[in-house]
Amino acid sequence: MIVVTGASGHLGRLVIEDLKQRVAASEIVAAARTPEKAADLGVEVREADYDRPETIKSALQGATKVLLISGIDPHRAQQHAAIVDAAKEVGATLVYTSAPKADTTEAGLAADHRATEEYIKASGVTYTILRNNWYHENYEQSITVAPQLGAVYGAAGDGRIASASRADYAAGTAAVLAETGHDGKVYELAGDTAWTLADLAAEIAEVTGKEVAYQNLPKDDYAGVLAGAGVPAPFAETLADVDVNISRGWLADTPGTLTDLIGRPTRTVGEYVRSLLG
Ligand SMILES: NC(=O)c1ccc[n+]([C@@H]2O[C@H](COP(=O)([O-])OP(=O)(O)OC[C@H]3O[C@@H](n4cnc5c(N)ncnc54)[C@H](OP(=O)(O)O)[C@@H]3O)[C@@H](O)[C@H]2O)c1
Repeated sequence: MIVVTGASGHLGRLVIEDLKQRVAASEIVAAARTPEKAADLGVEVREADYDRPETIKSALQGATKVLLISGIDPHRAQQHAAIVDAAKEVGATLVYTSAPKADTTEAGLAADHRATEEYIKASGVTYTILRNNWYHENYEQSITVAPQLGAVYGAAGDGRIASASRADYAAGTAAVLAETGHDGKVYELAGDTAWTLADLAAEIAEVTGKEVAYQNLPKDDYAGVLAGAGVPAPFAETLADVDVNISRGWLADTPGTLTDLIGRPTRTVGEYVRSLLG
């Protein structure tokens, strides 16, 4: 039985839809903090709140594989540890959604992922780690407002971003969950092509016929722009730090592993732009 945590979220829902093409629905459990949000998925739903280990233990009963979809809370490394412990206890293989180069990057966003990876490895649980590069969808707002603003803002310089769609990461994740042969592996998953924010601006300009240019800002100025657009200040700082790390090559690699898993090219960021603005 395959248990998917965070099943009510964007990625979790897509993973379950994909898994249903690969294994019987009766072999899949959607584990969610808010079970009613997962009720339409067509599989058994169990409550699993990362902050309530007793719900995790019962949600994982009978599991042979567990997908731990990383959380978003400041104490998520601690939350993740409870799921690792429960997976170990039931003898399940744990699949974890991590961050690119989690073991070496200086990006603050990856610190919890590094801690979780270390906890997983020390725990003795059988694991597969999926270090997902950026989602195209992270740029949804930048793309949709760019034609009005005439600009894409960032602090990533000419750093490249090998993003992929959530749907492609979900398909790769479903493959890992449904197949054998992935134990003990750490996969860097990314799109097939890496692009710069200037490339993104050019793509938006081409699709809309409007003038759109990339405005590269100093880190603090970019954090200020984000905060001005309503992003809470601490998260704006985190995102500006992400861009600085992008400028240093953090997200640039295209190892091709995701394409290998899904058996087709990844959807390009250009296709994503056209789906939003075309
Ligand atoms: N690689 C990237 O570019 C990227 C971008 C954004 C996020 N991420 C990471 O990838 C994860 C999945 O992405 P997503 O797009 O699916 O995010 P999402 O749509 O925000 O979904 C997050 C999921 O985590 C669940 N969750 C949060 N706190 C929880 C808790 N305490 N107990 C149980 N469940 C909890 C949410 O449950 P509720 O429905 O109950 O809120 C939801 O199902 C994110 O959580 C984040 O760690 C990666």
